[in-house]
Amino acid sequence: MKIAVIGTGYVGLVTGTCFAETGNRVTCVDIDERKIAKLKGGTVTIYEPGLEKLFERNVKEGRLLFTTQLEEGIADAEIIFLALPTPPGEDGSADLSYVLGVAHKLGTIMKKGDYKVIVDKSTVPVGTADKVIAGILKGSNNALVPGEDFDVVSNPEFLREGVAVEDFMKPDRVVIGTDSAKARSVMGELYAPFVRSGNPVIYMDEKSAELTKYAANAFLATKITFMNEIARMCELLGADVDMVRKGVGSDERIGKRFLFPGIGYGGSCFPKDVQALAKSAAEVNYDFRILKSVMEVNEAQKTYIIPKIKDYFNNDLTGKHFAIWGLAFKPNTDDIREAPALYIIKELLAAGATVTAFDPEAMPNVKALLGDSIKFAESQYETLADADALIIATEWNEFRTPDFTKISASLKRRTIFDGRNLFDTDLMNKLGYYYFSIGRKT
Ligand code: UGA
Repeated sequence: MKIAVIGTGYVGLVTGTCFAETGNRVTCVDIDERKIAKLKGGTVTIYEPGLEKLFERNVKEGRLLFTTQLEEGIADAEIIFLALPTPPGEDGSADLSYVLGVAHKLGTIMKKGDYKVIVDKSTVPVGTADKVIAGILKGSNNALVPGEDFDVVSNPEFLREGVAVEDFMKPDRVVIGTDSAKARSVMGELYAPFVRSGNPVIYMDEKSAELTKYAANAFLATKITFMNEIARMCELLGADVDMVRKGVGSDERIGKRFLFPGIGYGGSCFPKDVQALAKSAAEVNYDFRILKSVMEVNEAQKTYIIPKIKDYFNNDLTGKHFAIWGLAFKPNTDDIREAPALYIIKELLAAGATVTAFDPEAMPNVKALLGDSIKFAESQYETLADADALIIATEWNEFRTPDFTKISASLKRRTIFDGRNLFDTDLMNKLGYYYFSIGRKT
């Protein structure tokens, strides 16, 4: 099939590359000329495991093309994916100006009788499909007829950064929101190679599909936040959250995954989507109270270890030096959006401390944001020189079984504040560490 993907950010690039991999011809469109030049030159503009190999193969086969020209990009496309940013506006609601701007422009370009399926891939509030239809109609001066010349489908993505290619190629489910039989059949054909293993394509109306995406992310954010609160209870009551997690997670209704307490959820999705769903609720006069609590608890969780650190250093961090392992909001990505590490660094610097950090992928992004206000090290061990304590903010695999002899030799004192519960508490006791982790017995 011939496909256009508008927007070559995270979702667009993964979507375009993975559709090319199953033999479709995909043209990726973006207004950012530098980005398109890089992609045309063979450079993958995001870090995502497995993407580069697929990208190179499909570019070489001529199935993956790039352009800055919308008209050229969609010329013979049967399906047009909108993978555009929907940043939170000042009031927390999703800003649809990019999506609707492109919808309007599509209306001016698309021709009568040349049926196309327009797909909302971005996470957008309930009712956006209708707005996209209205935008296309306005652009075409009502010349185009929905259902005849085009249909708009909601097809939310459920990709996790770091495993996005795998999630795309083997999805748990594909959600397709449309009432049009024609669009259903086009989308069903497109996704058939991805659901051979029997995972479902779930068809529904546009609004339900749009809400499904928000409900999934908000539920997962709530699950994590609930465990973060249980972890606090564990600390106060002398229980161990690792035990509680295993105890509750083996109930299939709860499930083992997404029960890991830590220093709060971050990233480009959960914070934005929880906020947007709460805002959507407010717009229809519904007070979604759980979501408000989730946001409040998570905000506090991001700097939860700061008072613990201050207590340990008798409330005086002036002149103290900290090593930080991990800056990305989670492992296997260079993404630092809403990364808890940044909140922790801000608090440490404000309290008069200094910081040397290491992250396998995210350091250039943090350097661009924080400049010289912190130091960066070449390796995880190099951060430790003259540090009063080590703080772990991201659970990269390479941090999981470190050389403790090296750590002990470098740190001024054997002190670790672990926001990701990486190490065995008995081992840390045996090695003589002061070891603070989240919700566990020390
Ligand atoms: C999330 C969803 O998992 C995807 O299904 C969804 O498609 C995506 O958002 C999106 O809307 O685009 P992602 O933001 O890449 O994916 O990251 P996750 O792996 O879900 O982690 C989110 C945050 O939760 C991270 O900060 C992570 O550290 C935290 N987390 C996760 C925990 O604190 N505990 C856990 O047990 C799991």
